[in-house]
Amino acid sequence: MAQMRLDKFLGEMGVGTRTQIKEMARKGRVRVNGQTEKKSDRKIDPEQDVVQVDGREISYAAWEYYLLNKPQGVVSATEDRTYPTVIDLITDARRKDLFPVGRLDLDTEGLLLITNDGDLAHRLLSPRKHVDKVYFARVEGNLPEDSPEQMARGLVLKDGTKTLPASLTILPDSDSTAASVMLTIQEGKFHQVKRMFEALGCHVVYLKRLSMGPLKLDEALAPGQYRPLRKEELKMLRQLDQTEGSSEGSCAAVCIEKPEG
Ligand code: URA
Repeated sequence: MAQMRLDKFLGEMGVGTRTQIKEMARKGRVRVNGQTEKKSDRKIDPEQDVVQVDGREISYAAWEYYLLNKPQGVVSATEDRTYPTVIDLITDARRKDLFPVGRLDLDTEGLLLITNDGDLAHRLLSPRKHVDKVYFARVEGNLPEDSPEQMARGLVLKDGTKTLPASLTILPDSDSTAASVMLTIQEGKFHQVKRMFEALGCHVVYLKRLSMGPLKLDEALAPGQYRPLRKEELKMLRQLDQTEGSSEGSCAAVCIEKPEG
């Protein structure tokens, strides 16, 4: 891996601002390969050199990827004045520049990818890519019998927006108060699923995302829990599109282990 400045390395790993790191180094709190290093602007090799602050080893992660089962009551944002954010839930992240790939509503649960890989996020969210998103929903109201056909043709939402064809399955555990459904959509417009059912005269009372492209919600994760993406999951996501620039080939992408290449 290319060399980088010690203060940049420590800054990216959330140790502090450049000024704070300079001060830490000046006070002899920073060591490189066991030697006290007072110059925070010196170059290091993040893969070879052992960096410690106050005796704690700081290991480098260029990229981080987490699969979160988003709970209700948490916002899909990096900062919020009222609610906890999905980033607050990733308590052992090394990087400080993580963000959610797309948004789930405050009351929506389920699969959310958290990363600092902007290229990958861009490809997953690009409207041109038509990445399938599968949702489970409980829907109240009179779901028309031909809803699957209407969804398959593409709906016109109340504001006149036309949706792409979607696939709707009405599940057997539907009852007189609410229908249980699985809906696959190819887009990610604002409140899209809720607005699609509103266009059919119904109301979504529970919504959970089960998958996004090749990435599936890990049912072992309770709402609020997360885990690093597995190597093969990251590989599948990267295979969605290899044409644009990406972190592919980076030597320090972090999932469970470093990806090859
Ligand atoms: N569609 C919605 O209406 N809400 C979500 O959170 C996701 C998709």
